[in-house]
Amino acid sequence: MEHQPWWQKGVIYQIYPRSFLDTTHNGVGDLKGIIKKMDYLKELGVAGIWLCPIFPSPMYDFGYDTSDYYNIEPLFGSMEVFDELLLKAREKKIRILLDLALNHSSHLHPWFIESSSSRDNPKADWYIWAEPRLLKRRPNNWKSVFGGPAWSWSEQRKQFYLHSFLPEQPDLNWRNPEVKKQIFKILRSWLEKGVDGFRLDVVDFYLKDEKLRSNPYCPGRRPYEMQKHIFDKNRPENIEIMKEIRNLLEDYPEKIALGEVAERNAKIAASYYGPENDGLHINFNFNFLEQPWKAAAFKKAIEEWEGLLGPENWPVYTLSNHDVPRHFTRFGNCEARARVAATLLLTLRGTPFLYYGEEIGMSQGKIPRFRILDPVGKRYWPFHHGRDGCRTPMQWNGYRNSGFSSANPWLPVNQNYKEVNLAAQKKDPNSLFHFYRTLITFRNNSMALQKGEIQFLDINNPQVLAFRRQYELEKLLIILNFSSRKQTAVLPSELSGLKLVFPEKKAGIERQKKQLNLSPNGLGIFRE
Ligand code: NOJ
Repeated sequence: MEHQPWWQKGVIYQIYPRSFLDTTHNGVGDLKGIIKKMDYLKELGVAGIWLCPIFPSPMYDFGYDTSDYYNIEPLFGSMEVFDELLLKAREKKIRILLDLALNHSSHLHPWFIESSSSRDNPKADWYIWAEPRLLKRRPNNWKSVFGGPAWSWSEQRKQFYLHSFLPEQPDLNWRNPEVKKQIFKILRSWLEKGVDGFRLDVVDFYLKDEKLRSNPYCPGRRPYEMQKHIFDKNRPENIEIMKEIRNLLEDYPEKIALGEVAERNAKIAASYYGPENDGLHINFNFNFLEQPWKAAAFKKAIEEWEGLLGPENWPVYTLSNHDVPRHFTRFGNCEARARVAATLLLTLRGTPFLYYGEEIGMSQGKIPRFRILDPVGKRYWPFHHGRDGCRTPMQWNGYRNSGFSSANPWLPVNQNYKEVNLAAQKKDPNSLFHFYRTLITFRNNSMALQKGEIQFLDINNPQVLAFRRQYELEKLLIILNFSSRKQTAVLPSELSGLKLVFPEKKAGIERQKKQLNLSPNGLGIFRE
Protein backbone atom coordinates (compact mmCIF):
# COMPACT_ATOMS: atom_id res chain seq x y z
CA MET A 1 0.00 0.00 0.00
CA GLU A 2 1.31 3.41 -0.94
CA HIS A 3 2.54 5.49 1.98
CA GLN A 4 0.33 8.44 2.82
CA PRO A 5 1.97 11.40 4.57
CA TRP A 6 0.67 12.59 7.93
CA TRP A 7 -0.64 15.86 6.55
CA GLN A 8 -3.00 14.04 4.22
CA LYS A 9 -4.15 11.51 6.77
CA GLY A 10 -4.90 13.64 9.80
CA VAL A 11 -6.85 16.66 10.94
CA ILE A 12 -5.02 19.94 11.56
CA TYR A 13 -6.07 22.40 14.25
CA GLN A 14 -5.36 26.11 14.04
CA ILE A 15 -4.42 27.91 17.25
CA TYR A 16 -4.42 31.65 17.72
CA PRO A 17 -1.82 31.66 20.52
CA ARG A 18 -2.94 34.97 22.07
CA SER A 19 -6.33 33.43 22.77
CA PHE A 20 -5.70 29.81 23.71
CA LEU A 21 -4.51 29.72 27.34
CA ASP A 22 -2.69 32.29 29.44
CA THR A 23 -0.29 30.85 32.01
CA THR A 24 1.58 34.06 32.86
CA HIS A 25 -1.43 36.00 34.13
CA ASN A 26 -1.14 38.91 31.72
CA GLY A 27 -4.36 38.32 29.78
CA VAL A 28 -2.55 37.03 26.68
CA GLY A 29 -2.26 33.34 25.75
CA ASP A 30 1.20 31.80 25.51
CA LEU A 31 3.22 28.76 24.47
CA LYS A 32 3.13 27.22 27.95
CA GLY A 33 -0.64 27.35 27.62
CA ILE A 34 -0.44 25.35 24.42
CA ILE A 35 1.90 22.82 26.06
CA LYS A 36 -0.60 22.45 28.88
CA LYS A 37 -3.36 21.69 26.43
CA MET A 38 -1.44 19.23 24.28
CA ASP A 39 -3.19 16.31 26.02
CA TYR A 40 -6.49 17.90 25.13
CA LEU A 41 -5.47 18.16 21.47
CA LYS A 42 -4.46 14.52 21.56
CA GLU A 43 -7.81 13.62 23.06
CA LEU A 44 -9.56 15.52 20.29
CA GLY A 45 -7.57 13.44 17.84
CA VAL A 46 -5.75 16.03 15.77
CA ALA A 47 -2.56 15.16 13.90
CA GLY A 48 -1.06 18.62 13.76
CA ILE A 49 -1.41 22.19 14.88
CA TRP A 50 -0.87 25.42 13.00
CA LEU A 51 0.28 28.20 15.27
CA CYS A 52 -0.44 31.75 14.12
CA PRO A 53 2.81 33.81 14.27
CA ILE A 54 4.80 33.45 17.48
CA PHE A 55 7.83 35.56 16.48
CA PRO A 56 8.86 38.90 18.00
CA SER A 57 6.53 41.58 16.74
CA PRO A 58 5.37 45.07 17.66
CA MET A 59 1.87 43.61 17.10
CA TYR A 60 0.41 46.23 14.79
CA ASP A 61 -1.15 43.24 13.04
CA PHE A 62 -0.82 40.81 15.95
CA GLY A 63 2.25 38.97 14.78
CA TYR A 64 1.78 39.26 11.03
CA ASP A 65 4.33 42.04 11.34
CA THR A 66 7.49 40.18 12.30
CA SER A 67 10.55 41.97 13.60
CA ASP A 68 12.74 38.88 14.05
CA TYR A 69 12.15 35.61 12.20
CA TYR A 70 14.56 33.61 14.36
CA ASN A 71 13.15 34.14 17.83
CA ILE A 72 10.05 33.81 19.95
CA GLU A 73 7.91 36.76 20.99
CA PRO A 74 8.52 37.28 24.74
CA LEU A 75 4.78 37.64 25.36
CA PHE A 76 4.42 34.03 24.19
CA GLY A 77 7.55 32.58 25.81
CA SER A 78 11.14 31.95 24.81
CA MET A 79 13.12 29.57 22.64
CA GLU A 80 13.42 27.21 25.62
CA VAL A 81 9.65 27.08 25.97
CA PHE A 82 9.30 26.54 22.24
CA ASP A 83 11.74 23.63 22.47
CA GLU A 84 9.63 22.21 25.26
CA LEU A 85 6.55 22.60 23.07
CA LEU A 86 8.22 20.74 20.22
CA LEU A 87 9.23 17.93 22.57
CA LYS A 88 5.77 17.62 24.04
CA ALA A 89 4.21 17.66 20.59
CA ARG A 90 6.58 14.98 19.39
CA GLU A 91 5.83 12.85 22.42
CA LYS A 92 2.12 13.10 21.58
CA LYS A 93 2.75 12.61 17.85
CA ILE A 94 1.33 16.01 17.02
CA ARG A 95 3.03 17.94 14.23
CA ILE A 96 3.73 21.65 14.34
CA LEU A 97 3.24 24.12 11.52
CA LEU A 98 4.61 27.62 11.97
CA ASP A 99 2.98 30.63 10.35
CA LEU A 100 5.45 32.80 8.46
CA ALA A 101 4.51 36.21 7.12
CA LEU A 102 7.18 36.68 4.44
CA ASN A 103 5.52 39.00 2.00
CA HIS A 104 6.33 41.75 4.45
CA SER A 105 8.18 42.26 7.69
CA SER A 106 7.54 44.71 10.47
CA HIS A 107 8.73 48.27 9.87
CA LEU A 108 10.80 47.68 13.01
CA HIS A 109 12.66 44.73 11.52
CA PRO A 110 16.40 45.66 11.36
CA TRP A 111 16.27 45.01 7.60
CA PHE A 112 13.71 47.74 7.07
CA ILE A 113 15.39 50.13 9.48
CA GLU A 114 18.60 49.76 7.48
CA SER A 115 16.84 49.81 4.13
CA SER A 116 15.05 53.05 4.93
CA SER A 117 18.12 54.77 6.35
CA SER A 118 19.49 55.89 2.96
CA ARG A 119 19.30 55.18 -0.75
CA ASP A 120 22.68 53.49 -0.88
CA ASN A 121 22.93 51.21 2.14
CA PRO A 122 23.58 47.46 1.60
CA LYS A 123 19.87 46.71 2.07
CA ALA A 124 18.63 49.67 0.03
CA ASP A 125 16.89 47.31 -2.38
CA TRP A 126 15.47 44.83 0.15
CA TYR A 127 12.03 46.44 0.13
CA ILE A 128 10.03 47.96 -2.70
CA TRP A 129 11.02 51.60 -3.04
CA ALA A 130 9.89 53.94 -5.79
CA GLU A 131 10.22 57.54 -6.83
CA PRO A 132 7.22 59.83 -6.55
CA ARG A 133 5.48 60.77 -9.75
CA LEU A 134 5.18 64.41 -10.66
CA LEU A 135 4.11 66.67 -7.77
CA LYS A 136 4.97 64.04 -5.17
CA ARG A 137 2.21 61.76 -6.37
CA ARG A 138 2.39 58.09 -5.45
CA PRO A 139 4.18 55.76 -7.89
CA ASN A 140 0.95 54.06 -9.01
CA ASN A 141 -2.66 53.40 -7.99
CA TRP A 142 -2.09 50.32 -5.83
CA LYS A 143 -4.20 50.10 -2.69
CA SER A 144 -3.58 48.48 0.67
CA VAL A 145 -5.82 45.54 1.55
CA PHE A 146 -6.41 47.25 4.90
CA GLY A 147 -7.48 50.54 3.33
CA GLY A 148 -5.83 53.59 1.82
CA PRO A 149 -2.95 53.68 -0.65
CA ALA A 150 -0.33 50.92 -0.64
CA TRP A 151 2.49 53.49 -0.66
CA SER A 152 3.87 55.51 2.25
CA TRP A 153 6.45 58.25 2.17
CA SER A 154 9.86 57.95 3.76
CA GLU A 155 11.35 61.30 4.71
CA GLN A 156 14.77 59.74 5.05
CA ARG A 157 14.88 58.38 1.52
CA LYS A 158 12.50 60.89 -0.05
CA GLN A 159 10.85 57.94 -1.73
CA PHE A 160 7.75 55.85 -1.31
CA TYR A 161 7.77 52.26 -0.01
CA LEU A 162 5.16 49.65 -0.75
CA HIS A 163 2.96 48.00 1.87
CA SER A 164 0.17 45.74 0.67
CA PHE A 165 -1.21 45.79 4.22
CA LEU A 166 -0.43 48.32 7.01
CA PRO A 167 2.28 50.98 6.62
CA GLU A 168 3.92 49.09 9.52
CA GLN A 169 4.19 46.04 7.22
CA PRO A 170 6.53 47.03 4.38
CA ASP A 171 6.63 44.52 1.50
CA LEU A 172 9.92 42.68 1.03
CA ASN A 173 11.49 42.73 -2.40
CA TRP A 174 11.35 39.07 -3.40
CA ARG A 175 13.01 39.92 -6.70
CA ASN A 176 16.24 40.62 -4.86
CA PRO A 177 18.21 37.32 -4.74
CA GLU A 178 19.81 38.29 -1.45
CA VAL A 179 16.36 38.70 0.17
CA LYS A 180 15.26 35.35 -1.16
CA LYS A 181 18.42 33.75 0.14
CA GLN A 182 17.83 35.17 3.60
CA ILE A 183 14.21 34.00 3.58
CA PHE A 184 15.20 30.49 2.55
CA LYS A 185 17.73 30.51 5.36
CA ILE A 186 14.89 31.24 7.79
CA LEU A 187 12.86 28.32 6.42
CA ARG A 188 15.79 25.95 6.72
CA SER A 189 16.65 27.04 10.21
CA TRP A 190 13.14 26.22 11.54
CA LEU A 191 13.07 22.94 9.63
CA GLU A 192 16.41 21.98 11.15
CA LYS A 193 14.95 22.76 14.51
CA GLY A 194 12.28 20.18 13.90
CA VAL A 195 9.07 21.95 12.92
CA ASP A 196 6.95 20.07 10.41
CA GLY A 197 6.27 22.84 7.98
CA PHE A 198 4.79 26.25 7.42
CA ARG A 199 1.61 28.06 6.74
CA LEU A 200 2.80 30.81 4.43
CA ASP A 201 0.93 34.08 4.71
CA VAL A 202 -0.41 35.69 1.51
CA VAL A 203 1.85 33.87 -0.94
CA ASP A 204 -0.18 35.44 -3.75
CA PHE A 205 1.46 38.79 -2.94
CA TYR A 206 5.13 37.81 -3.03
CA LEU A 207 6.04 39.14 -6.48
CA LYS A 208 4.83 42.40 -7.94
CA ASP A 209 5.02 43.75 -11.45
CA GLU A 210 8.60 44.71 -12.17
CA LYS A 211 7.49 47.93 -13.84
CA LEU A 212 5.04 48.76 -11.04
CA ARG A 213 2.23 49.35 -13.53
CA SER A 214 -1.10 50.65 -12.22
CA ASN A 215 -3.94 48.17 -11.91
CA PRO A 216 -6.86 48.60 -14.30
CA TYR A 217 -10.23 49.70 -12.95
CA CYS A 218 -13.14 47.32 -12.38
CA PRO A 219 -16.51 47.81 -10.69
CA GLY A 220 -16.52 46.95 -6.98
CA ARG A 221 -17.81 47.97 -3.55
CA ARG A 222 -14.70 49.05 -1.63
CA PRO A 223 -11.87 51.02 -3.27
CA TYR A 224 -9.65 47.92 -3.01
CA GLU A 225 -12.20 45.90 -4.97
CA MET A 226 -12.41 48.56 -7.64
CA GLN A 227 -9.20 47.38 -9.23
CA LYS A 228 -8.24 44.26 -11.08
CA HIS A 229 -5.25 43.12 -9.11
CA ILE A 230 -3.15 41.96 -11.99
CA PHE A 231 0.02 43.91 -11.26
CA ASP A 232 0.27 43.90 -7.46
CA LYS A 233 -0.26 40.16 -6.94
CA ASN A 234 -0.50 36.77 -8.61
CA ARG A 235 2.20 37.61 -11.13
CA PRO A 236 2.82 34.57 -13.35
CA GLU A 237 6.48 34.43 -12.20
CA ASN A 238 5.27 33.99 -8.62
CA ILE A 239 4.77 30.28 -9.25
CA GLU A 240 8.55 29.94 -9.76
CA ILE A 241 9.02 30.99 -6.14
CA MET A 242 6.53 28.36 -5.00
CA LYS A 243 8.54 25.78 -6.90
CA GLU A 244 11.72 26.94 -5.23
CA ILE A 245 10.08 26.63 -1.82
CA ARG A 246 8.85 23.16 -2.71
CA ASN A 247 12.30 22.26 -3.86
CA LEU A 248 13.79 23.38 -0.59
CA LEU A 249 11.25 21.34 1.34
CA GLU A 250 12.04 18.22 -0.67
CA ASP A 251 15.22 18.00 1.42
CA TYR A 252 13.04 17.42 4.48
CA PRO A 253 10.71 14.43 4.06
CA GLU A 254 7.13 14.87 5.28
CA LYS A 255 7.57 18.61 5.86
CA ILE A 256 5.17 20.86 4.07
CA ALA A 257 4.30 24.31 2.86
CA LEU A 258 0.67 25.36 3.05
CA GLY A 259 -0.16 28.47 1.08
CA GLU A 260 -2.60 31.12 2.10
CA VAL A 261 -3.92 32.21 -1.26
CA ALA A 262 -6.67 34.52 -0.14
CA GLU A 263 -8.47 34.41 -3.47
CA ARG A 264 -12.15 33.76 -4.06
CA ASN A 265 -11.16 32.58 -7.50
CA ALA A 266 -10.48 28.88 -7.01
CA LYS A 267 -8.59 28.70 -10.28
CA ILE A 268 -5.96 31.11 -9.00
CA ALA A 269 -5.72 29.27 -5.68
CA ALA A 270 -5.28 25.97 -7.55
CA SER A 271 -2.42 27.40 -9.60
CA TYR A 272 -0.29 27.55 -6.43
CA TYR A 273 -0.05 23.75 -6.49
CA GLY A 274 2.19 24.26 -9.52
CA PRO A 275 1.61 23.10 -13.09
CA GLU A 276 2.92 19.64 -12.25
CA ASN A 277 2.17 19.44 -8.58
CA ASP A 278 5.56 21.08 -8.11
CA GLY A 279 4.34 24.19 -6.26
CA LEU A 280 3.26 24.33 -2.60
CA HIS A 281 2.02 21.01 -1.20
CA ILE A 282 -1.38 22.37 -0.22
CA ASN A 283 -3.24 25.66 -0.50
CA PHE A 284 -6.32 27.05 1.15
CA ASN A 285 -9.48 27.38 -0.87
CA PHE A 286 -11.29 30.53 0.23
CA ASN A 287 -14.08 29.86 -2.20
CA PHE A 288 -15.23 26.92 -0.05
CA LEU A 289 -14.91 28.99 3.12
CA GLU A 290 -17.14 31.72 1.74
CA GLN A 291 -20.10 29.60 0.67
CA PRO A 292 -23.55 30.36 2.06
CA TRP A 293 -25.43 27.66 3.99
CA LYS A 294 -26.71 25.82 0.95
CA ALA A 295 -26.04 22.22 -0.04
CA ALA A 296 -25.96 23.09 -3.73
CA ALA A 297 -23.45 25.92 -3.18
CA PHE A 298 -21.06 23.65 -1.28
CA LYS A 299 -21.44 20.91 -3.84
CA LYS A 300 -20.54 23.31 -6.61
CA ALA A 301 -17.50 24.66 -4.72
CA ILE A 302 -16.22 21.16 -3.91
CA GLU A 303 -16.71 19.85 -7.42
CA GLU A 304 -14.97 22.87 -8.85
CA TRP A 305 -12.03 22.48 -6.47
CA GLU A 306 -11.77 18.74 -7.11
CA GLY A 307 -11.93 19.38 -10.85
CA LEU A 308 -9.21 22.02 -10.71
CA LEU A 309 -6.88 19.95 -8.56
CA GLY A 310 -7.35 16.58 -10.19
CA PRO A 311 -6.38 13.35 -8.44
CA GLU A 312 -2.68 14.24 -8.11
CA ASN A 313 -3.12 17.38 -5.96
CA TRP A 314 -4.33 17.24 -2.40
CA PRO A 315 -7.27 19.44 -1.30
CA VAL A 316 -7.57 21.33 1.97
CA TYR A 317 -10.82 22.49 3.49
CA THR A 318 -11.60 24.88 6.30
CA LEU A 319 -14.68 26.74 7.47
CA SER A 320 -13.23 29.28 9.91
CA ASN A 321 -9.99 31.06 10.65
CA HIS A 322 -8.65 34.14 12.44
CA ASP A 323 -9.68 36.51 9.62
CA VAL A 324 -13.32 35.66 9.01
CA PRO A 325 -16.43 35.50 11.22
CA ARG A 326 -16.77 32.10 12.87
CA HIS A 327 -18.88 29.70 10.84
CA PHE A 328 -21.06 28.82 13.82
CA THR A 329 -22.42 32.35 13.56
CA ARG A 330 -22.23 32.61 9.78
CA PHE A 331 -24.46 29.56 9.55
CA GLY A 332 -27.08 31.00 11.88
CA ASN A 333 -25.85 30.16 15.40
CA CYS A 334 -27.43 26.77 15.12
CA GLU A 335 -25.82 23.69 16.63
CA ALA A 336 -27.65 21.28 14.34
CA ARG A 337 -26.10 23.05 11.36
CA ALA A 338 -22.68 23.06 13.03
CA ARG A 339 -22.92 19.26 13.17
CA VAL A 340 -23.76 19.05 9.49
CA ALA A 341 -20.89 21.44 8.71
CA ALA A 342 -18.44 19.40 10.82
CA THR A 343 -19.49 16.19 9.11
CA LEU A 344 -18.98 17.76 5.71
CA LEU A 345 -15.56 19.15 6.63
CA LEU A 346 -14.36 15.90 8.16
CA THR A 347 -15.54 13.55 5.43
CA LEU A 348 -14.36 15.30 2.27
CA ARG A 349 -11.33 14.14 0.32
CA GLY A 350 -8.55 16.36 1.65
CA THR A 351 -7.13 17.69 4.88
CA PRO A 352 -9.64 19.34 7.23
CA PHE A 353 -8.45 22.38 9.16
CA LEU A 354 -10.30 23.18 12.37
CA TYR A 355 -10.15 26.56 14.06
CA TYR A 356 -9.77 26.53 17.87
CA GLY A 357 -13.11 26.51 19.63
CA GLU A 358 -15.18 25.34 16.70
CA GLU A 359 -15.31 21.92 18.33
CA ILE A 360 -17.44 23.42 21.12
CA GLY A 361 -19.43 25.70 18.85
CA MET A 362 -17.81 28.99 19.74
CA SER A 363 -19.69 31.81 18.11
CA GLN A 364 -18.48 35.16 16.83
CA GLY A 365 -17.74 37.44 19.80
CA LYS A 366 -19.41 40.83 20.06
CA ILE A 367 -16.71 43.39 20.71
CA PRO A 368 -17.75 46.80 22.03
CA ARG A 369 -16.22 49.59 20.00
CA PHE A 370 -13.86 50.75 22.75
CA ARG A 371 -12.31 47.27 22.92
CA ILE A 372 -11.68 46.82 19.22
CA LEU A 373 -7.98 46.15 18.63
CA ASP A 374 -7.81 44.87 15.07
CA PRO A 375 -6.53 47.63 12.77
CA VAL A 376 -9.22 46.72 10.23
CA GLY A 377 -11.99 47.18 12.80
CA LYS A 378 -10.49 50.42 14.08
CA ARG A 379 -10.36 51.87 10.62
CA TYR A 380 -13.70 50.71 9.30
CA TRP A 381 -16.06 50.63 12.28
CA PRO A 382 -19.14 50.64 12.02
CA PHE A 383 -19.02 49.29 8.43
CA HIS A 384 -16.65 46.49 9.35
CA HIS A 385 -16.18 45.45 12.96
CA GLY A 386 -12.80 43.91 12.26
CA ARG A 387 -11.51 40.46 13.08
CA ASP A 388 -11.44 40.54 16.89
CA GLY A 389 -14.77 38.71 17.11
CA CYS A 390 -13.31 35.46 15.82
CA ARG A 391 -10.24 35.75 18.05
CA THR A 392 -11.87 35.80 21.50
CA PRO A 393 -10.41 33.58 24.25
CA MET A 394 -11.00 29.86 24.17
CA GLN A 395 -13.92 28.87 26.39
CA TRP A 396 -12.43 26.18 28.62
CA ASN A 397 -14.93 26.28 31.48
CA GLY A 398 -17.66 28.31 33.17
CA TYR A 399 -15.38 29.97 35.71
CA ARG A 400 -13.89 33.45 35.61
CA ASN A 401 -12.77 34.49 32.13
CA SER A 402 -13.80 31.04 30.90
CA GLY A 403 -10.67 29.55 32.44
CA PHE A 404 -8.54 31.33 29.85
CA SER A 405 -6.71 33.70 32.16
CA SER A 406 -6.68 34.93 35.74
CA ALA A 407 -6.11 38.46 34.45
CA ASN A 408 -8.26 40.70 32.31
CA PRO A 409 -8.15 39.01 28.86
CA TRP A 410 -6.76 40.99 25.93
CA LEU A 411 -10.12 40.58 24.17
CA PRO A 412 -13.41 40.11 25.99
CA VAL A 413 -14.50 36.53 26.55
CA ASN A 414 -17.63 35.66 24.63
CA GLN A 415 -20.66 36.32 26.87
CA ASN A 416 -22.05 32.84 26.35
CA TYR A 417 -19.09 31.09 28.04
CA LYS A 418 -21.16 29.90 31.02
CA GLU A 419 -23.29 27.78 28.69
CA VAL A 420 -20.78 27.13 25.92
CA ASN A 421 -17.54 25.74 27.30
CA LEU A 422 -15.42 22.63 27.06
CA ALA A 423 -15.80 21.46 30.67
CA ALA A 424 -19.59 21.40 30.37
CA GLN A 425 -19.47 19.66 27.02
CA LYS A 426 -17.07 17.01 28.23
CA LYS A 427 -19.67 15.98 30.81
CA ASP A 428 -22.43 15.74 28.23
CA PRO A 429 -22.12 12.72 25.93
CA ASN A 430 -24.41 14.39 23.39
CA SER A 431 -22.39 17.60 23.16
CA LEU A 432 -20.83 19.08 20.05
CA PHE A 433 -17.38 18.37 21.50
CA HIS A 434 -18.10 14.63 21.72
CA PHE A 435 -19.58 14.77 18.26
CA TYR A 436 -16.33 16.23 16.88
CA ARG A 437 -14.16 13.87 18.90
CA THR A 438 -16.04 10.77 17.78
CA LEU A 439 -16.12 11.93 14.19
CA ILE A 440 -12.37 12.67 14.17
CA THR A 441 -11.71 9.23 15.68
CA PHE A 442 -13.90 7.69 13.02
CA ARG A 443 -11.95 9.54 10.34
CA ASN A 444 -8.63 8.54 11.87
CA ASN A 445 -9.69 4.90 11.54
CA SER A 446 -11.16 5.04 8.07
CA MET A 447 -9.01 4.60 4.99
CA ALA A 448 -11.95 5.59 2.82
CA LEU A 449 -12.12 8.99 4.54
CA GLN A 450 -8.38 9.49 4.63
CA LYS A 451 -7.57 8.32 1.18
CA GLY A 452 -10.61 7.35 -0.81
CA GLU A 453 -12.06 8.89 -3.91
CA ILE A 454 -15.08 11.13 -3.66
CA GLN A 455 -18.15 10.88 -5.80
CA PHE A 456 -21.34 12.91 -5.46
CA LEU A 457 -24.67 11.14 -5.89
CA ASP A 458 -27.63 12.53 -7.69
CA ILE A 459 -30.42 12.06 -5.16
CA ASN A 460 -33.02 14.38 -6.54
CA ASN A 461 -32.96 16.92 -3.75
CA PRO A 462 -30.85 20.11 -3.90
CA GLN A 463 -31.11 20.60 -0.11
CA VAL A 464 -29.27 17.40 0.61
CA LEU A 465 -25.67 16.47 -0.06
CA ALA A 466 -24.88 12.83 -0.66
CA PHE A 467 -21.46 11.54 -1.57
CA ARG A 468 -19.52 8.34 -1.50
CA ARG A 469 -16.00 7.82 -0.28
CA GLN A 470 -14.34 4.64 -1.27
CA TYR A 471 -10.96 3.05 -0.78
CA GLU A 472 -10.43 -0.57 -1.74
CA LEU A 473 -13.19 -2.52 0.00
CA GLU A 474 -14.30 0.24 2.35
CA LYS A 475 -17.27 2.12 0.94
CA LEU A 476 -18.96 4.94 2.79
CA LEU A 477 -21.96 7.03 1.96
CA ILE A 478 -22.35 10.44 3.60
CA ILE A 479 -25.74 12.10 3.71
CA LEU A 480 -26.25 15.66 4.96
CA ASN A 481 -29.52 17.53 5.14
CA PHE A 482 -28.71 21.24 5.00
CA SER A 483 -32.30 22.33 5.45
CA SER A 484 -34.20 22.89 8.70
CA ARG A 485 -37.10 20.87 7.29
CA LYS A 486 -37.68 17.22 6.70
CA GLN A 487 -36.35 16.03 3.38
CA THR A 488 -36.36 12.88 1.37
CA ALA A 489 -33.64 11.52 -0.84
CA VAL A 490 -33.88 8.75 -3.36
CA LEU A 491 -30.86 6.52 -3.48
CA PRO A 492 -29.58 4.91 -6.65
CA SER A 493 -30.80 1.36 -6.98
CA GLU A 494 -27.39 -0.27 -6.55
CA LEU A 495 -27.19 1.02 -2.98
CA SER A 496 -28.65 -1.51 -0.68
CA GLY A 497 -27.66 -2.96 2.66
CA LEU A 498 -26.56 0.36 4.10
CA LYS A 499 -25.51 0.34 7.71
CA LEU A 500 -25.39 3.53 9.75
CA VAL A 501 -21.94 3.91 11.32
CA PHE A 502 -22.00 7.54 12.48
CA PRO A 503 -23.45 9.00 14.60
CA GLU A 504 -24.29 6.04 16.75
CA LYS A 505 -27.52 7.59 17.96
CA LYS A 506 -29.97 10.12 16.58
CA ALA A 507 -28.82 10.30 13.00
CA GLY A 508 -32.19 11.64 11.97
CA ILE A 509 -32.29 9.41 8.93
CA GLU A 510 -34.83 6.64 8.35
CA ARG A 511 -34.83 4.22 5.50
CA GLN A 512 -37.86 3.24 3.53
CA LYS A 513 -36.61 0.92 0.84
CA LYS A 514 -34.72 3.14 -1.59
CA GLN A 515 -35.92 6.35 -0.04
CA LEU A 516 -34.29 8.05 2.89
CA ASN A 517 -36.39 10.22 5.18
CA LEU A 518 -34.23 12.86 6.73
CA SER A 519 -35.16 14.89 9.77
CA PRO A 520 -34.23 18.62 9.79
CA ASN A 521 -30.43 18.82 9.58
CA GLY A 522 -30.28 15.04 9.73
CA LEU A 523 -26.95 13.48 8.87
CA GLY A 524 -25.30 10.15 8.72
CA ILE A 525 -22.36 8.12 7.52
CA PHE A 526 -23.34 4.70 6.20
CA ARG A 527 -21.23 1.73 5.33
CA GLU A 528 -22.20 0.07 2.09
C1 NOJ B 1 -3.31 37.16 6.19
C2 NOJ B 1 -3.40 36.86 7.64
O1 NOJ B 1 -4.17 35.71 7.84
C3 NOJ B 1 -3.99 38.08 8.30
O2 NOJ B 1 -4.33 37.86 9.65
C4 NOJ B 1 -2.99 39.21 8.16
O3 NOJ B 1 -3.56 40.39 8.68
C5 NOJ B 1 -2.62 39.45 6.69
N1 NOJ B 1 -2.37 38.24 6.00
C6 NOJ B 1 -1.40 40.31 6.57
O4 NOJ B 1 -0.28 39.60 6.99
